[in-house]
Amino acid sequence: MTHNTTANWTKRWTFILAATGSAVGLGNIWKFPYITGEYGGGAFVIVYLACILAVGIPVMIAEIMAGRAARANPVDAMLDLSAQAGAPKIWSIVGLGGVIGGLMILMFYSVVAGWALDYSWQSLTAAYHESSADTIEANFGALTGSFSRQWFWQTLFVVFTGGVIAAGVTGGIGRAVEILMPLLMLFLLGLLIYSWSVGEVGPSLSFMFTPDFSKLSTEAVLVALGHAFFTLSLGMGAIMAYGAYMPGEHSIGKTVMLIGALDTGIALVAGLAIFPLVFANGLEPSSGPGLMFVSLPIAFGQMPGGVIFGSVFFILVSIAALSSSISLIEPGVAWLEGHGIPRKLGTLLAAGIGWLGGIACIYSGDFFNALDHVTANYILPLGGLLIAIFVGFVLSRDRVKQEVAFESERYFALWHFALRYVAPLGILVVFLHSVGVI
Ligand code: PHE
Ligand code: NA
Repeated sequence: MTHNTTANWTKRWTFILAATGSAVGLGNIWKFPYITGEYGGGAFVIVYLACILAVGIPVMIAEIMAGRAARANPVDAMLDLSAQAGAPKIWSIVGLGGVIGGLMILMFYSVVAGWALDYSWQSLTAAYHESSADTIEANFGALTGSFSRQWFWQTLFVVFTGGVIAAGVTGGIGRAVEILMPLLMLFLLGLLIYSWSVGEVGPSLSFMFTPDFSKLSTEAVLVALGHAFFTLSLGMGAIMAYGAYMPGEHSIGKTVMLIGALDTGIALVAGLAIFPLVFANGLEPSSGPGLMFVSLPIAFGQMPGGVIFGSVFFILVSIAALSSSISLIEPGVAWLEGHGIPRKLGTLLAAGIGWLGGIACIYSGDFFNALDHVTANYILPLGGLLIAIFVGFVLSRDRVKQEVAFESERYFALWHFALRYVAPLGILVVFLHSVGVI
């Protein structure tokens, strides 16, 4: 025990809030349920959970360790660490790839966050209150068919994101996360209870948890792995950038388990709340990105107090999206700032690129899908693969051991093994499988 324990606890808490804010977002509430529906349920969920445990958690520990060791943005962190280890500078490409990947994600992420804002507005104005399921389904089509509506809300979302980043209050977002994240969980649980009381629970449970591996496509495995990275914000330096908040002597392991459990728990609860409504209302589990934007308004439109409940819910989802989106451009802005480009200008640049790309996503669903596909399924796992190799093999075992500060030798050995072998081989096998080599 040292005299600065309290200060360290505060710092560790700041890190937990920032990282949780980054992890928990549209990936959990929007994407997880709809890809689970698209890729057939049970077997997909099991592969996804396995990827979180065997690949995501070990890589997350490595990313935080790297960020904490270098105390710099991801590009410079990789430069510093490779210089210290006598490794080539080219490793910084991991950081650079992350900066670019973050911008690419922001492009489609801001469009979906715009949908959440639009639904906040629809909820506040009782636009779908007591409407039929068909009308509500048509509502989503009307939104995705309207350039101006999507453009308006996407623009607003990017402005919010840029505002937080430019003000340099990424740490301050922790305050919002501290209050709003528990509230989001509370609302999700409330929704779960409602959904289970009116919906089809049995079919949902068997859909989500009864694995039929014969239905598991090659692509489903790639998507499950990709989503493990996406949902934990891994492979692009977001978590590395936040690693700088972590006080030196704190063990990373427990913190990562906590964040991983929270993120996974929220995704599962979202799925468990959404599918009973999907089945009860004759919707298709495989209906795609509109899954939550159709099933939930049906529920909000019918439940007592649904106008208020739905409004608060969609606003909370929008805020969760905001705390994720700031972590998409923070690494890039921090990197530019470290090289003489003022924070406000860097923000303008990054947010501007994200905003323009978002407009392109609104114009072209193909571009939207391509960005989602390439970032989640290739850029993030590739980034994770390189980070695992770098921390696992390039940095010395002693250095790494000291940096992660695990309580027990056994846990360290287990993690180091997972990082050196399980995670890289897992990613490689899935990659090779998806291109048909194995
Ligand atoms: N993890 C976020 C989510 O689940 C998305 C994200 C991905 C954020 C990558 C930062 C980096 O919504
Ligand atoms: Na997530």
